[in-house]
Amino acid sequence: MTTNTFLTSLISVVADLSTHMPPEQRYQRLLQHLRQTFPCDASALLKLEGRHLAPLAVSGLSEDTLGRRFVIDEHPRLARILASNQAVRFAADSDLPDPYDGLIEAEDSRLLVHDCMGVTLFIDGEPWGVLTLDALNAGTFDGIDPVQFNAFISLTAASVKAVGLISSLEQRVSYVTRTLNRQNAGHNLIGESEGMRALRNEISIVAPSELAVLIMGETGVGKELVAQRIHLESTRADQVMVYVNCAALPESIAESELFGHSKGAFSGAVSERAGKFELADGGTIFLDEIGELPLSIQAKLLRTLQNGDIQRVGSDRQIKVNVRVIAATNRDLQQEVANGLFRSDLYHRLAVYPMHVPPLRERGKDVLLLAGAFLEKNQQRLGVKKLRLDAGAKKALQDYRWPGNVRELEHLLSRAALKAATRGNRQSDIITLSAAYLDIAPDSPEGSSSVLADVSITSAPPMDFKGAVDEFQRRLVQQQIALHQGNRAAAARALGLDRGNFHRLLKRLAI
Ligand SMILES: Nc1ncnc2c1ncn2[C@@H]1O[C@H](COP(=O)(O)OP(=O)(O)OP(=O)(O)O)[C@@H](O)[C@H]1O
Ligand SMILES: [Mg+2]
Repeated sequence: MTTNTFLTSLISVVADLSTHMPPEQRYQRLLQHLRQTFPCDASALLKLEGRHLAPLAVSGLSEDTLGRRFVIDEHPRLARILASNQAVRFAADSDLPDPYDGLIEAEDSRLLVHDCMGVTLFIDGEPWGVLTLDALNAGTFDGIDPVQFNAFISLTAASVKAVGLISSLEQRVSYVTRTLNRQNAGHNLIGESEGMRALRNEISIVAPSELAVLIMGETGVGKELVAQRIHLESTRADQVMVYVNCAALPESIAESELFGHSKGAFSGAVSERAGKFELADGGTIFLDEIGELPLSIQAKLLRTLQNGDIQRVGSDRQIKVNVRVIAATNRDLQQEVANGLFRSDLYHRLAVYPMHVPPLRERGKDVLLLAGAFLEKNQQRLGVKKLRLDAGAKKALQDYRWPGNVRELEHLLSRAALKAATRGNRQSDIITLSAAYLDIAPDSPEGSSSVLADVSITSAPPMDFKGAVDEFQRRLVQQQIALHQGNRAAAARALGLDRGNFHRLLKRLAI
């Protein structure tokens, strides 16, 4: 082979080996390249394990070779290769038995190897394993250029080392994931109401299965927490749960975020990149706010759920992934299906196990349990001995309708605790929160029924109905934004709207 052809083929080997693939496949591909570069009837990559060599990949040898272990003391040729730091070629008439005699898959009946060579692979100066080449015709290897052969062997060693680095990296990631997951496990779902007990029961049933789960419920009810619990109680708990916020994915990048892209797939794709599905391989993917996913991407997601494979943007290669899917939404997806905004086939795939997280106002005394947990957190954060609620505060919490659910409760208590702690109440070390601190007296602006009172339409008729409704909505929204000092999220909560809908409303009303 001319030097130029050799270099060109070496470059394509490197390019091929640097794509993402499991270790066994990488070793196998390496041997295929080896056989294309240096024609032979069989080759094998064997790893040194104590006193024997274990085949990691074979090409042209009968499949059972992979299960064999070659004890070095019983195979003098392998022993000779291991004893040398150069490539070793055996004479055609060598009387040393060949380890692969009878194992080469030849079309004719010749079973004895007549040309054989091998080389020890050194990684960081230590013998790591052996690469062997065999041919049935004597003299096959006469034409091998030793410089080219050595170059290929260095590449093989580098590739083997890369596999090792990648898998140790993966082990570390898995260790870190496990640790983080365990820490997260502290976040239990608080609540003893019937709804929460039923939910916990459902989680324990569905988690160990591989079923797709669709978690539904209003904003702030704890859907993400439920998704985490399902993952932690599943058999994949030691693997990652990859989080994807579908609402934050503009259509133009959604496909590449989810499925990855190949180099040059679009301007800006300067290098190859794995998508979230590949990152989640072996673990779970959490598709949050799935209702916001553009229709075009829904079709691609459906294909992945059906076939278990993905295709990076700009590549034809199908990559198999093993991912458990959990999705969440605060929309009424069935209604979205009826309106043609969500694919019904995808809905049925996702909702294999639908789960409904009840709103906080239906959980009775859970409000107080949750409040206790959040106050405890704030005590630590603010460095006070005790934060407690007086009877009025407890009643206010229970009477309120909680349009923003648990998240609203959490934020409200953080604000109240901070206010109380900074008002010089610290001396006593026990701080009692009264309803006044909570800012949710039933007639306060955040109380859902009272917001309507101060907004009226004063414009004189004639005014069309839609125009009047828009005008009313505009004033109501502006009033709430003003009442919350420009905090749109808080205004949305007060109006019982989720952030997505609130944003769309602002846009439509040109506020
Ligand atoms: N049962 C619960 N016990 C303890 N904490 C909870 C519970 N439910 C929710 N929380 C807390 O409330 C907050 C909001 O929960 P989460 O983010 O899971 O809600 P969500 O349903 O995903 O909301 P959204 O629809 O807005 O995304 C989080 O800080 C979460 O830890
Ligand atoms: Mg969420």
